[in-house]
Parts: sequence; C-alpha cells; structure tokens
Amino acid sequence: MLEYALNNMAIAVYSKANKSIKITQPSKKYALGIHGLIKKSPPLDLNSSYLYLLQSFYFSNTCAVAILNEKVIGFVSGFINPKKQNSLFVWQVVIDEKFRGLGLGVELIEFILKKNRSLDHIETTVTKENHASRKMFRKIYEKYESNISEQVLFEKTKDFMGQHESEFLIKIGPIII
Ligand SMILES: CC(C)(COP(=O)(O)OP(=O)(O)OC[C@H]1O[C@@H](n2cnc3c(N)ncnc32)[C@H](O)[C@@H]1OP(=O)(O)O)[C@@H](O)C(=O)NCCC(=O)NCCS
Repeated sequence: MLEYALNNMAIAVYSKANKSIKITQPSKKYALGIHGLIKKSPPLDLNSSYLYLLQSFYFSNTCAVAILNEKVIGFVSGFINPKKQNSLFVWQVVIDEKFRGLGLGVELIEFILKKNRSLDHIETTVTKENHASRKMFRKIYEKYESNISEQVLFEKTKDFMGQHESEFLIKIGPIII
C-alpha cells in the first residue's frame, strides 16, 4: 500500500527556462486542458478527451505537463514499450506556441526519464517535415552523446491509406541521466 502511494506521489519541479512554469505528472484535472492545447497545435492528431483522461489517470507516470498559472502550456504523453521495458515511447509532444524554442519539450521528457530510472532509451515517430520535433529529439541525442537510428514504421500508402504522412521511428539511447 505504501509502495503504491509512493509510486503515485506527484512530484513537481520548476522549469529551468522559466521558473514560473511547473512541470509535473498529469492528473485528471488537466485532461481537458491537454485536449484544448492539442486542438490548437497542428500537425498533431487530436484524440478524444476520454483518451487524455486515460493518459492522465492510468499513464501519468510516463506523461508530463507544464503548467503556468494553472493552465496547461505543455504536454508529453508516453508509455513503456511493452516489448522493451527500458524504452519510453514518446507519443505526443506539444508546447504552447508562445513558449516554443525554450527547450521545454526536452525538459518534459527528462522529467519522465528522471522519474523512471529504469528507462534509458527513447522511441518516437515523426513525419519527414516536422523539423521542430526532429530538432528537439536531436538535441536529446546530442546532449547525452547517445546513438540515434531512424527507419520508416507506418507508411503513408500502405498503413494510412494515403490519409496521413509516413511516420518514421526514431530510437535514441542509451540515455544516462
Ligand atoms: C515540437 C515541439 C514540441 C518542440 O518543443 P520546444 O520546447 O519548442 O522545442 P525546442 O525549444 O527544443 O525547439 C526545437 C525547435 O523548434 C523550432 N522553434 C523554435 N522556436 C520556435 C517557435 N517560437 N515556434 C515554432 N518553432 C520554434 C526550432 O527549429 C527549434 O530548434 P533550434 O532551437 O535548433 O532552432 C513544439 O514545436 C510543438 O509543440 N510543435 C507542435 C506540435 C508537434 O509538432 N509536436 C511534435 C510531434 S509529436
């Protein structure tokens, strides 16, 4: 019981980029704010508010939010690869456009890795044209002098029936924080 409570204790830190921004794991109360932030952040796919509630409730340990004045201004969703227990799959990353370019996305991912010491690899998928996202992941690879690989995972024609750009799997690791 105590172990459960400790595992679920919400830890918060303040952003190095802006001391007023709190970084913590999401809880249910942030799910609608996350949904609203994703909605105004193309090219991200908007999922249902139910999905963000599930992530904030069941997957909060591998997700992170950035909060300013009780508003969600950043979010990373992730889960542990079921086939590779030391690898964090980073699903969606979003930073409110007013706060981009400050390195906040990397801070959120580092927050998750610090909370989960068994994780030392990252996987994510990105489209060819998402340069900001590619640069952000490249910064992690450079900062931790790690290895990086890339290969197509979900193809535009074969997997998305032409309705979505191809998603390339990027793997970075090991990351020793
Ligand atoms: C991708 C994203 C999460 C990066 O977050 P971030 O905290 O701004 O990341 P960084 O500060 O490391 O900046 C990464 C790159 O974004 C670009 N960038 C910087 N300032 C920016 C701004 N004001 N607006 C848009 N892009 C900017 C730059 O190319 C930067 O690389 P550089 O510092 O080498 O020039 C953010 O741009 C975003 O939310 N984009 C929309 C959603 C998205 O595409 N998510 C990723 C797919 S899952």
